[in-house]
Amino acid sequence: MAEINKNYKKLAAGYLFPEIARRTREFQEKHPQMILKKLGIGNTTEALTPSVVDGLKNGVNKLADPSSYSGYGDEQGKVELRQALADYYKNRGIELSSDDFFVSDGAKPDSSNIQSIFSPESVIAVQDPAYPVYVDSNVIAGRTGEFSNEMGEYEGLLYMPCTEENNFFPDVPDKKVDLIYLCSPNNPTGAVATHKQLKMFVEYAKKNKAVIIFDAAYSEYISDPNLPKSIFEIEGAKECSLEINSLSKFSGFTGVRLGWSIVPKELVIEGTEPGEVRSLWNRRQSTFFNGASNIVQEGALAVFSEKGLKESNELVNYYMENARIIMKGMEDVGLNYYGGINAPYVWLKTPEGISSWDFFDKLLSETGVIGTPGSGFGPGGEGYFRLSAFGHREDIEEAVESIKKNLNL
Ligand code: MLT
Repeated sequence: MAEINKNYKKLAAGYLFPEIARRTREFQEKHPQMILKKLGIGNTTEALTPSVVDGLKNGVNKLADPSSYSGYGDEQGKVELRQALADYYKNRGIELSSDDFFVSDGAKPDSSNIQSIFSPESVIAVQDPAYPVYVDSNVIAGRTGEFSNEMGEYEGLLYMPCTEENNFFPDVPDKKVDLIYLCSPNNPTGAVATHKQLKMFVEYAKKNKAVIIFDAAYSEYISDPNLPKSIFEIEGAKECSLEINSLSKFSGFTGVRLGWSIVPKELVIEGTEPGEVRSLWNRRQSTFFNGASNIVQEGALAVFSEKGLKESNELVNYYMENARIIMKGMEDVGLNYYGGINAPYVWLKTPEGISSWDFFDKLLSETGVIGTPGSGFGPGGEGYFRLSAFGHREDIEEAVESIKKNLNL
């Protein structure tokens, strides 16, 4: 008798963003005249840069010609792209081999798939709040107990609180865990870990034989030169960490799809030799994945040209100007906020006594602005609300004006 994977039944609710879309649709049906302004999901809105467009066209042209046509490529990605990635890190002072890079169709699949190479018994630690994929993928893999409605938590998972008191970056766990998810700049709080904070985690991981899964999807939004963009800037991190990144937020690839994971040869866990964890990830990827699109990889290669990097940085500056407009607006209305300086997310504190979802409803009905309830990122997000800086400038300005004019505080 076929049976479903019962772990799916443990999942607390629908995935956060479809749930927001559902509530928004319901609201719009009831209020068709209201113009909604979307600052919810972190979805890029600006056109692809000229270099990327040329790169993608070049990819299409190659496939259109029998002499340059290619079918399946290396599951790990084109040799040139893996080398371009290794060179990019090298220019930032990080020595990695191109073999440590695995090109994929985005950071989301990598963040959810990476857990599959570790033991089902692994104890997981996540920042609270956190990108929901880390928790949900481990729930589905059976590494948690049931969801407690009272606590807003899954049993068996270690939640590392990220609060105003610790500047939204947690202390190392006070017990032994096996896999630690860290995201910096953080989605959703916009907080960025310092060298010292990451060093603490690297030391913890080495002492406890744990692995850090470092999500650097927003690293290009860091403008402060004193803040680390990669876990591999920390001495010894290669022996206990892997990293995930993507072009989604850097180069507007949310709909194009290209990411990469870095599993250094040096990463070892109990009972493995150097290179074995990397080989396992290679085995996983080559079994379940046939490689990123040949066309998209040409687009990605174009990002790492001098012109391509300059254009992607201009995109980042555009969204960061949006973040400044949002922060200024929140100051004007007197709402407390965090993040937004080295990250494209502004993390609002909801007014006293208003829950995250109640604030979602209030903001939507009074101002037509859609944001993301903090509690959707974990129990530690309750009482907070995320505004995304991804949007057309005029939409961001209108949203902020509407909040200033119509939000009843
Ligand atoms: C977010 O809004 O948190 C992100 O856009 C979601 C994602 O990148 O999958």
